[in-house]
Amino acid sequence: MLKIAVTKGRIQEQLILLLQKSGYDTQPIINMGRSLEVTTTDDLQFIFGKANDVVTFLEHGVVDIGFVGKDTLQESDFDDYYELFDLQVGQCYFALAAYPDFKNKTFHRRKRIASKYPKVAKAYFSNQKEDVEIIKLEGSVELGPVVGLSDAIIDIVETGNTLAANGLEIIEKISDISTRMIVNKASFRFKQQNILQMVTKFEKAGKIK
Ligand code: PRP
Ligand code: MG
Repeated sequence: MLKIAVTKGRIQEQLILLLQKSGYDTQPIINMGRSLEVTTTDDLQFIFGKANDVVTFLEHGVVDIGFVGKDTLQESDFDDYYELFDLQVGQCYFALAAYPDFKNKTFHRRKRIASKYPKVAKAYFSNQKEDVEIIKLEGSVELGPVVGLSDAIIDIVETGNTLAANGLEIIEKISDISTRMIVNKASFRFKQQNILQMVTKFEKAGKIK
């Protein structure tokens, strides 16, 4: 039996497609309605939850495997896991973005940076050896510059439409994001064969869509 935590919503839908393509039984997942836990005929037990909680479940060893976005992993303080597979879906990237005048502007104070990902933002600027003030927002981070709260943002960009619609542009692309399969290290030790079998099936199935 493998216990698997999956981020609800889009990642869940994409994983179902990958499982189907890999020859797994997905009917019980499709028919699960509002329940949050399900076991399939392949002896896989799935739970579905919020992205950060998927990492928490894996950290505490209540699941063997997690499916979660790289954005969540980068922001998490927990990194004692194996990342075994890139589903190559949900592709987007972290970027520093601002109004076009940001680049040539002289600041006589610390720059203010809004982000839903303060850890990622902090790491980026510490790498640049620049001391900035990071302001945490819960969403619609583009509002930072729009309302004059921040000089720039670090946020996820997919199509770039949200930035464009708000007059913002990419100053620098930071790192790529996509859905990843992560594995608890102790689980890997005890269930290595089972887990690697799943990875092989995913690799053979190829790219979803
Ligand atoms: C995400 C992200 C960007 C936008 C990127 O926000 O934070 O704002 O999508 O997509 P685009 O480049 O295709 O426009 P989301 O709408 O998920 O909500 P949130 O910011 O409120 O979390
Ligand atoms: Mg947004």
